[in-house]
Amino acid sequence: MVGTMGLKVTKATKSKINEIDFDNLPFGKYFTDHMLVADYRDGEWKSAEIKPYQPLMMEPSLAAIHYGQSIFEGIKAYKNKEGEAYVFRPMDNFKRFNISAARMEMPEVPEEIFIEGMRQLIELDKNWIPAKQDYALYIRPFMFATDAVIGVKPSDSYKFLIILSPTGPYYSAPMKIYVEETYTRAAPGGVGFAKNAGNYGGSLHASAEAKRKGYDQVLWTDAFEHKWLQEVGTMNVMFIFGDKVVTPSLEEGTILEGVTRDSALTLLKEMGLTVEERRISIDELMEAYKSGKLTEAFGTGTAATISPIKELKYKDFVMNFDPSNFKSAIQLKKTMTDIKTGKLADTHEWMFKV
Ligand code: COI
Repeated sequence: MVGTMGLKVTKATKSKINEIDFDNLPFGKYFTDHMLVADYRDGEWKSAEIKPYQPLMMEPSLAAIHYGQSIFEGIKAYKNKEGEAYVFRPMDNFKRFNISAARMEMPEVPEEIFIEGMRQLIELDKNWIPAKQDYALYIRPFMFATDAVIGVKPSDSYKFLIILSPTGPYYSAPMKIYVEETYTRAAPGGVGFAKNAGNYGGSLHASAEAKRKGYDQVLWTDAFEHKWLQEVGTMNVMFIFGDKVVTPSLEEGTILEGVTRDSALTLLKEMGLTVEERRISIDELMEAYKSGKLTEAFGTGTAATISPIKELKYKDFVMNFDPSNFKSAIQLKKTMTDIKTGKLADTHEWMFKV
C-alpha cells in the first residue's frame, strides 16, 4: 500500500528541454522529462513513482482498449512574475476525477497520489512551464483498466498516470461552430458528466463531419429533440444576453461540470452580470440573435480557456459575431489570466503553490 513517506523518484539522465521550441507549442504534442505512474491491484494502490517519460508495455488483451474503462482530467500550471509555479484549482479536478471513476466503476485515486504526486512531478519539471502569454503547462492525469482479460466486467487492476505537456492555446482563433442535430453526445442517465475517454471518441465522427463543412467544432444538442443546447466538443458554452450570462445547467447530468465554467461564472458575477444556469434552446438563441439581445458567445475549458465563437450555424440559419466587440469575454479572459499568473490577487484561493 502506498504510504505517506514519499514517492520513489528516478530522474532522467538527460533533459529534452533544449529540443523544444517554446515559441511554437501546438496543444498536447510535446511531453516533459518525467511522468508519474501508480498501480492498483488486489483492492489497493500498490506503488506510485515518478520516472523518466517513456512508453508503456501492454497486453493486446488490455481491458481498457476493448471496453473503454478509461478516464482523464485536464489541469494547467502557470508561472507568476517571480517565476514560482502554481496550479489552477487542482483540487476541483481531483474531485471530478473520482466522480468519473465512480461512474466508470473504477477505484478512487487518493489525494496523496493525485495531488501530492502531481506537485512533486511539476516541481521536478517546472522549467517546462512556458512563460508566454496564453501558454501553460498542461497536466494530464489519467487512469485505465489493465486486466488482461476480454470478459466484459470492471477490471481488477488499473494504472494511474500523470504526464505534462508544455502547450499553446487550443484554439488560436475565434471558432466557427456547427449546431449538431443528427448525432448525440449524451442523454440523461448516461456518462455525459464524466470525463471518460469514450465521450471524446464518440464525438470524433460528428466533429470530423463539421470540419469537412468548414466548422471547428459542434455544439451538442439533447438526445430527444435536438434543440436543447449542451456543450461544445471540448468546452462548456456561454452566451451573453445584455447584462445576463446564460449557460446550460448541470441538472440533467449530460454536460461536464467544468472547472473553468465555474470560475467564469464566479468572475462574471463579480463583473456585475446576472448568471442563469438553465435549459436553453436553439430557438431562444436564434430569437435573441435576431432581436440583437445575443451579444456574445464563447466556450470555457481548461485547454480552451475562454474561446470566442465567431459563427454559429443551425440548419440554414447563420449567426455571426465580431469577437473583437466581446466586452464580457475579453474582460473575463484577462481577469482569469491575471489571477493565474499572479498579476491579480487570488481572492478565491484557486491557485495551488507547487
Ligand atoms: C481540457 O480542457 O482539459 C480537456 O480535457 C478538453 C480536451 C482537450 C479533451
